[in-house]
Amino acid sequence: MLSFELKYARRRHLPALHFRRVAFPFTDRSSSVLGMDLHSKYPAISDLKSRAKRRIPHFVWEYLDSATGDESTLHRNHAALQNVLLRTSVLHGEFTPDLSTSLLGQDHPLPFGVAPVGMSGLIWPGAEHSLARMAAQENIPYCLSTMASKTPDDLAGDIGAHAWFQLYPPRDMGILDDMLRRAKAAGFTTLVLTVDVPVASRRERQIRGGMTNPPTVGPKILAQMALCPVWTNGIRKAGMPRPKLMESYTENRSALPSNQHIGYLMRTSPDWDYFKALRETWDGPLVVKGVMNPGDAARLSDEGADAIWVSNHAGRQFAGGAATITALPGIRAATRLPVIFDSGITGGLDILRAIALGADFVMLGRAFHYGLGALGDAGAAHVVDILRQDMISNMGQIGARQLSDLPATLATPAAP
Ligand code: LAC
Repeated sequence: MLSFELKYARRRHLPALHFRRVAFPFTDRSSSVLGMDLHSKYPAISDLKSRAKRRIPHFVWEYLDSATGDESTLHRNHAALQNVLLRTSVLHGEFTPDLSTSLLGQDHPLPFGVAPVGMSGLIWPGAEHSLARMAAQENIPYCLSTMASKTPDDLAGDIGAHAWFQLYPPRDMGILDDMLRRAKAAGFTTLVLTVDVPVASRRERQIRGGMTNPPTVGPKILAQMALCPVWTNGIRKAGMPRPKLMESYTENRSALPSNQHIGYLMRTSPDWDYFKALRETWDGPLVVKGVMNPGDAARLSDEGADAIWVSNHAGRQFAGGAATITALPGIRAATRLPVIFDSGITGGLDILRAIALGADFVMLGRAFHYGLGALGDAGAAHVVDILRQDMISNMGQIGARQLSDLPATLATPAAP
C-alpha cells in the first residue's frame, strides 16, 4: 500500500494530469487518491473488479463473486440487461442531465444506493463503516444487512439521512422486536424485508472456496491471506469479522458453511401472516426485497408494503429463475408503489436501462465491494463517480434531460 501511495504521490506532479482532467468534462469533483485521477486508471467498475480480485483472498472472493448452481441466473442478469436498447438522439442541443429523484417521500441526488451485503467487513476490512460514511457524504442510501459483521448500533455514528436496515426475519418475535428497536434507535429509518431466501441455496463455488461463517483459518486460507497483505493487515487490526448482530442473540458461535450460516439457525421463512405482523410493528417505510412475480407485488401493495424491490439475490439463491430486468416490466405494471431494482448492474448505462423499464431506484452490492477491494476507502466514492459520469454521458447520447425521460427512449419497449 505504501509503495502504491508513494508511486502516485510522485505522479501527481506530472503535467499529464491536466490532460486527464480535460478528458472528463462532466466531473464536478474528481475522485482521487493523493492527487491521482482515479478515472485515468480505473475508468470502469470492471477495472476495480480486476484489481480487487488480486487483493482479496480467494475464499472471500469466491463468497463475494459467486452465485448458486451453474450460476446461470447471474449470467442471465447481465445478458438480459445488455439486450435492453435505448434510442440515441441527435440535434437536441446542450444540456446538463438531472440525476435527481425522489423515493419514499425523500429527495435523492442520485437514483442509486448501496445494497445489503452479508459479512461485508470480511470482504474488505471496515467495509460497513466505510460504506456508511461514503453514503452519508454522497447523500445516497446505505442498506445494512442483518448478516453484516457490524450491528446497527456500531454504525450509529457513520450513517447519514438514508440509512436502511435489511431484515432476515427471526422466528422469535422477541428477537425481532429487539432488532427493530436497535435499528431504529441507531437511526435506521427504512426497513427492508428480504423474502428471496426461503431456504439455504447450495452455493457450490463458495463451498469449494472453503468459506465458513465465521471464517476458520487453516493452512490453505493462511496461504491465501499471505498473498493479500493489505487485506490481512486490515483484518489483523479490525479483528476477524463475525456475524455480530445474529451472534448477539445466540450462544452458538461455531463456524458453519457459509450457505448455512448462523442466520439459518435463527430465522424463519416468513409467510403472509409474518408480513402482516411486521407491518403492524414497524411504523416507518417497509420495503420488500426479492420480489420477482407481479402477483406478489400486487398483493404486497394491498397488504401495506411501501416499496417493492425486484431482486433475485444477484443469482445467489436460484439458478433457474428469470433475469431481474426481465421481471421488472411486469412488476411495474402490477403496482403503483415505488419499484427498486438490483442484480446485475455493472455501470451507469444499466441503471438507465432499469429506470427506462420502470424502476424508480437501483441498488448495487458487489460493485461497491469491488471499489473497496481495489482502492480501500476511496474506492467506494469512486464507484459513485463512475456511475454518475456514465449516466451523464449516456443521457447525453439518448437526449434524456431527466430520469423521467428514460422510458420514452426505449428501443425495445417489450420485455427483453
Ligand atoms: C448472501 C446472504 C448473506 O447472499 O445475503 O450471502
